[in-house]
Amino acid sequence: MALFHLTFLMASSPLLLLLLTTTTASASNATAAADLSALLAFKAHVTDPSGILGRNWTAATPYCGWLGVTCGHRHRLRVTALSLPGVPLAGAMAPELGNLSFLSVLDLSDAQLTGPVPASLGNLKRLTWLNLSTNYLSSHVPASLGGLAGLEVLCLDTNNLTGEIPNELRNLQSLMWLDLSRNGLIGHVPQGLFDVMSQLKYLSLAHNNLMGNIPKAIGFLQNLEVLELSSNQFSGEIPSSLFNMSSLI
Ligand SMILES: *[C@@H]1O[C@H](CO)[C@@H](O)[C@H](O)[C@H]1NC(C)=O
Ligand SMILES: *[C@@H]1O[C@H](CO)[C@@H](O)[C@H](O)[C@H]1NC(C)=O
Ligand SMILES: *[C@@H]1O[C@H](CO)[C@@H](O)[C@H](O)[C@H]1NC(C)=O
Ligand SMILES: *[C@@H]1O[C@H](CO)[C@@H](O)[C@H](O)[C@H]1NC(C)=O
Ligand SMILES: *[C@@H]1O[C@H](CO)[C@@H](O)[C@H](O)[C@H]1NC(C)=O
Ligand SMILES: *[C@@H]1O[C@H](CO)[C@@H](O)[C@H](O)[C@H]1NC(C)=O
Repeated sequence: MALFHLTFLMASSPLLLLLLTTTTASASNATAAADLSALLAFKAHVTDPSGILGRNWTAATPYCGWLGVTCGHRHRLRVTALSLPGVPLAGAMAPELGNLSFLSVLDLSDAQLTGPVPASLGNLKRLTWLNLSTNYLSSHVPASLGGLAGLEVLCLDTNNLTGEIPNELRNLQSLMWLDLSRNGLIGHVPQGLFDVMSQLKYLSLAHNNLMGNIPKAIGFLQNLEVLELSSNQFSGEIPSSLFNMSSLI
């Protein structure tokens, strides 16, 4: 169908086709420029005490060749991964990261980051992997993360996050790995949080200040291999469904 359409265009109107290709080219230029400016905003926000980005992220190399940056195969100028685990970046996460609209992997774990997790990360509709473990991130878990329907890994553990677990996270139906442990999270675990998380293999909420009942639905997660709930203020009985889990290892 598309091929026919293209052939038809070529045959009937070379001018139209020319117009079409130039429009696409400048549109992709504009979005590539947005990726570059998002990366530069990210670089400007971190303090980079070891100077790693200062030395590597320079105009001498196209941004797709920068340390930790991966661009797409099909969309060659679009950033698909930003992965700098263990690199001491320090400073805050730029909200402009939410403009990297082709991003699938974001790993800024163990990077000494401070400040909030930008709500704009909820714009990254292609994100499958978000690891911000082991930083000094504060404020609460943004509810906007609940819009990331393709997210498979969400690690926010070992930070300084406070507030309640947002109810919106219940929409993360692709999630396989959820680690919110070692923060200052409070309140009840939202009702229904695990109702559609049937892929979940790893769940840790340990070392927070969560209270109330342990959700029964955890016992019905058929693929769950690791469950950590220790060091919270949970009360009530352990749901009997939890004694029924055969997948735990
Ligand atoms: C678009 O990108 C091409 C190739 O990278 C470049 O030559 C051209 O100047 C760019 N156009 C605009 C409008 O930025
Ligand atoms: C930046 O790091 C990448 C990946 O290690 C390397 O390929 C590139 O040459 C480095 N660029 C500069 C300017 O050091
Ligand atoms: C990038 O993100 C910032 C902050 O989220 C926003 O204000 C700005 O409009 C975005 N810029 C582009 C070019 O998309
Ligand atoms: C997330 O990052 C931490 C720290 O770098 C690492 O230990 C952990 O294995 C990562 N999580 C996943 C699911 O790979
Ligand atoms: C973590 O948060 C608490 C309470 O807001 C604050 O007192 C403490 O300094 C924070 N720690 C770090 C490492 O940011
Ligand atoms: C435990 O599993 C059995 C067999 O699948 C089921 O009949 C029973 O209702 C389950 N019990 C609870 C408390 O979930």
